[in-house]
Amino acid sequence: MVLADFLIASATVLGFISLFKNLLGFARWLHATFLRKPKDLRNYGSWAIVTGATDGIGKALVFELASKGLNLVLVGRNPSKLEATSRELRDRFGATTEVKTVVADLAKLSGEEIAAAIAGATEGIDVGLLVNNAGMASLPKYFHEVDRELTESILRVNVNAAVWATKGVIDGMLKRKRGAILNMGSGSAVYISSYPLMTLYASTKAFLATFSKSISLEYEGQGIDIQCQAPLFVATKMTMMKRWYVFIPSAEMFSRASVRWIGYDRVCNPYWSHSVQAFVARTLDTIIVWGIECYAKWWRAQERSCR
Ligand SMILES: NC(=O)c1ccc[n+]([C@@H]2O[C@H](COP(=O)([O-])OP(=O)(O)OC[C@H]3O[C@@H](n4cnc5c(N)ncnc54)[C@H](OP(=O)(O)O)[C@@H]3O)[C@@H](O)[C@H]2O)c1
Repeated sequence: MVLADFLIASATVLGFISLFKNLLGFARWLHATFLRKPKDLRNYGSWAIVTGATDGIGKALVFELASKGLNLVLVGRNPSKLEATSRELRDRFGATTEVKTVVADLAKLSGEEIAAAIAGATEGIDVGLLVNNAGMASLPKYFHEVDRELTESILRVNVNAAVWATKGVIDGMLKRKRGAILNMGSGSAVYISSYPLMTLYASTKAFLATFSKSISLEYEGQGIDIQCQAPLFVATKMTMMKRWYVFIPSAEMFSRASVRWIGYDRVCNPYWSHSVQAFVARTLDTIIVWGIECYAKWWRAQERSCR
């Protein structure tokens, strides 16, 4: 009887602790997502540099950053898309936003060349924020089917470019004792245990998450905030998806949320409905991974039948 009472009391206490922990986590999420005051990004410095600024999330982000009063260095591989984005920024924000461009194919340049291009373009300007946004993925394929050139490009754009662009800005940030770096990771590497047929993509994003978590600890005492954001599906040319209610936000919807989180958590999921999806994905991981594999195989078969 005494033992039974003891077991019931222990289970009740453990239940309450678990409930309290979950309620606390939920309250923290509500606060961070809807109530927390975004950082004034100008306190990091007056310029932001964004890679992959000519399309999708990167392009939406530069407009959002300009609206917060930052000047911009746009990095992209296509000179005419860079020029078009600068023109659109000038049309919308006029002389209040200065814009520079750097033409750099991140799949072709060596690491040292990327660091030198970034350091050269930002010499003498107060770079407060680096956004390593440029990213590449293949269509769903088995690992052996991804051709060698594409394999090399994915590794270079998703991993190499982020590491070496960081090398290009970190010394200046250390001297000024302020700065922020945002690495655009992916929920495919953070909230889902595996991502078959998109192995290279998810693995490079896992690298970015670990890189961000570790390096952020190295520099947190020096005024530099480093973060990896891990979104789920956003409607861009990479996913070839259309916006679908709140579940698949547009790049603009995502970028508004993204900017609110800069400078806070080391790894985060800024868009509210992505957090709900991530919660479900974590809870039902085995089923979700199976679903993803089926979907990727279906997509691969569609793509092959269209050839
Ligand atoms: N969309 C999603 O659902 C999703 C989900 C999770 C994470 N992400 C991540 O978010 C980031 C942005 O993705 P997105 O969906 O916006 O993709 P996107 O629409 O394809 O845009 C990618 C950007 O990167 C640039 N880029 C690609 N290869 C490059 C290279 N070799 N050199 C220089 N720039 C290059 C592109 O330039 P061009 O304009 O010349 O093509 C474009 O500006 C990526 O890191 C991606 O992995 C996206």
